[in-house]
Amino acid sequence: MLLPKQIQKPKEQGYGEAPVNIALIKYWGKRCPLLNLPVTDSLSVTVPDTLTKTVIRAIDGPCDKISLNQTIMQNNSSFYKRTCQFLDLFRNEKLPFFEIETQNSVATAAGLASSASGFAALVLALNDLFQWQLSLKHLSILARMGSGSACRSFWPGFVHWHAGMEENGMDSFAEPLAQTWPDLMLALVIVNQSQKPISSRDAMQQTVRTSPLYEAWPNTVAKHLIELKQAIAQKDFAHFGQVAEQQALAMHATMLASWPSIDYRLEATLASIHRVYELRQAGVPVYFTQDAGPNIKLLFEARHQAEILQVFPAAIVKPLFL
Ligand code: PMV
Repeated sequence: MLLPKQIQKPKEQGYGEAPVNIALIKYWGKRCPLLNLPVTDSLSVTVPDTLTKTVIRAIDGPCDKISLNQTIMQNNSSFYKRTCQFLDLFRNEKLPFFEIETQNSVATAAGLASSASGFAALVLALNDLFQWQLSLKHLSILARMGSGSACRSFWPGFVHWHAGMEENGMDSFAEPLAQTWPDLMLALVIVNQSQKPISSRDAMQQTVRTSPLYEAWPNTVAKHLIELKQAIAQKDFAHFGQVAEQQALAMHATMLASWPSIDYRLEATLASIHRVYELRQAGVPVYFTQDAGPNIKLLFEARHQAEILQVFPAAIVKPLFL
């Protein structure tokens, strides 16, 4: 992998901001853990107005300084270690350390895709600091190395991450789809904001290694990806919702069959899922998706918002195409 050549004199500080994205076709499993190269393609939708904002400066040391939402991160926290490991790609003897101030508008590591917006914002801040002027495709490749899903956080709307085949990962990047869907809404149903019991990074590896259902996963994704793209092109919401929900269910079923089993669902998650089923039975077209955490995200069209908020009064509604 060719990393951008730093210019010797960085600006005083660099700034980057990037939104969260929610996968509708999930990335679950790596063919190369070192470069975060996925087994399959994936497809997400960006959530506008859920930004991570990051400022970066080159400093003399004695070590990296990282703060998240105004709180200094301890050197032994996983957030600190993961960020430093990524920064290792960009430092040299002349620029040994960085100071980072980052503001997240979503809970960290609670299945709300904060690492996606976080690494995308960090890469944009580095691009600004060193004035690389890289293309979004190249930035997508760099962000992928911090967190796979981060490669999809550079565009609004629907974004397709191509798994690629090359060993160096240069063909594994994301691209936006042309289609928009102005009525499409997402609502976050937060059942728990605490840190998840197992990181998506470890959970993915455990699933690939031990789940007897993983064999079926690449074909399931390939089929769902074609169907979801068709549903988007035809604005067929029932088909769209069904594919997205089945994707999430298939991913969690595959994880559940791992050993030890990986189960991100809490009682409140299941209760919320059942309320989605009940709403559908009552004729309201609403579907859910769930990532590596207990919270669920509802998908629906704008005209059904009131009925959905009656059942989920605390849901945080986000129009996806502003
Ligand atoms: O990029 P990571 O390591 O945070 O993994 C993301 C995994 C899922 O959110 C469950 C799926 C996805 O495609 O975003």
